[in-house]
Amino acid sequence: MNRNPHVAIVGATGAVGQEMIRTLEKRNFPVGRLTLLASARSAGRKLKFRGQEFPVQELNRESFNGVDIALFSAGGDISREFAPLAARAGCVVVDNSSAFRMDDAVPLVIPEINAADVSWHRGIIANPNCTTAITLMALYPLHRAFGVKRIFASSYQAVSGAGARAMEELKRQIGEIVSGRPVTREAFPHQIAFNVLPQVDRFLPNGYTREEMKMENEGRKIMHHPTFRASVTCVRVPVYRSHSVAVSAEFERPVSLEAAREVLQKAPGLDVVDEPENQKYPMPLFTSERDNCQVGRLRKDCALDNGLCFWVSGDQLLKGAALNAVQIAEELLR
Ligand SMILES: NC(=O)c1ccc[n+]([C@@H]2O[C@H](COP(=O)([O-])OP(=O)(O)OC[C@H]3O[C@@H](n4cnc5c(N)ncnc54)[C@H](OP(=O)(O)O)[C@@H]3O)[C@@H](O)[C@H]2O)c1
Repeated sequence: MNRNPHVAIVGATGAVGQEMIRTLEKRNFPVGRLTLLASARSAGRKLKFRGQEFPVQELNRESFNGVDIALFSAGGDISREFAPLAARAGCVVVDNSSAFRMDDAVPLVIPEINAADVSWHRGIIANPNCTTAITLMALYPLHRAFGVKRIFASSYQAVSGAGARAMEELKRQIGEIVSGRPVTREAFPHQIAFNVLPQVDRFLPNGYTREEMKMENEGRKIMHHPTFRASVTCVRVPVYRSHSVAVSAEFERPVSLEAAREVLQKAPGLDVVDEPENQKYPMPLFTSERDNCQVGRLRKDCALDNGLCFWVSGDQLLKGAALNAVQIAEELLR
């Protein structure tokens, strides 16, 4: 791999794409050349990187000539069409969509957990689902120490998880409600302002949504734990940024609060914020725009044997998307 790679961002104008540009800059990634790609709608728009303006180009089949690393975040359909083409043109794709995550020929990577899987890629590496990534940042270290059997979890997912248009929708609806106008709706099936929606993604025949089943499916692949089980309810909340997840986890071995706290304090990419007596616990307002996820509300689960409850919160545009993708790109340069 070129030490100063030519990096392309597909979906550069989107909620994740813009964070990718900022993350490359913030982490001093040794970008040799930068190409920003999006749809025809954005062609010609200029975005800033290291104080310089870069024009957005329309994505086409020739976009990847000479590109070393392509960070994709333009949805599953674009990834399915263009990622194999980019890989054939000789670049390594880090894909944010769900298109290739469960493909046996594609590594699915959270660098703090399974960085070594990067080594067997064949041109495409998948970035995990955002809710799964944030949960595993706390669950995996506990799994290593105590052996997780299963979890029961509920998520509280920010609107930016559904893209730039969804963020606009929350802002617009708040304005409409406050000024007494009728509420308009485009991005979500129901009003999201002053409401919570117990649906993220499409429903499956088993009654769970696709988003909910990602925790078990992707969790098994990332943790190399084929019997891991997860029963999850994913909920969209009127928060701009940062997902939070309430988790009850059952382990093979007995787990004490002290031992769990010690494990979590040493975990990379995670801060323990757990002082209930001082009303200190992780909240999306304070994990937004931060690289590290936060875990708190630690307690022994009163309804499970060898059980632990915790609450984890993290910026899903960063650890759940852009930051994780750039960390994978960093692994490629090691
Ligand atoms: N948001 C999150 O927290 C999050 C987390 C993890 C993974 N992801 C995944 O990341 C992807 C992007 O999500 P997002 O939230 O950033 O969405 P978004 O804000 O809606 O942005 C979508 C991006 O895709 C581009 N695009 C759309 N159609 C295109 C086309 N035909 N050709 C080229 N580019 C096209 C858009 O360009 P225009 O501006 O030109 O339309 C825009 O740059 C999705 O696969 C999503 O599942 C998102």
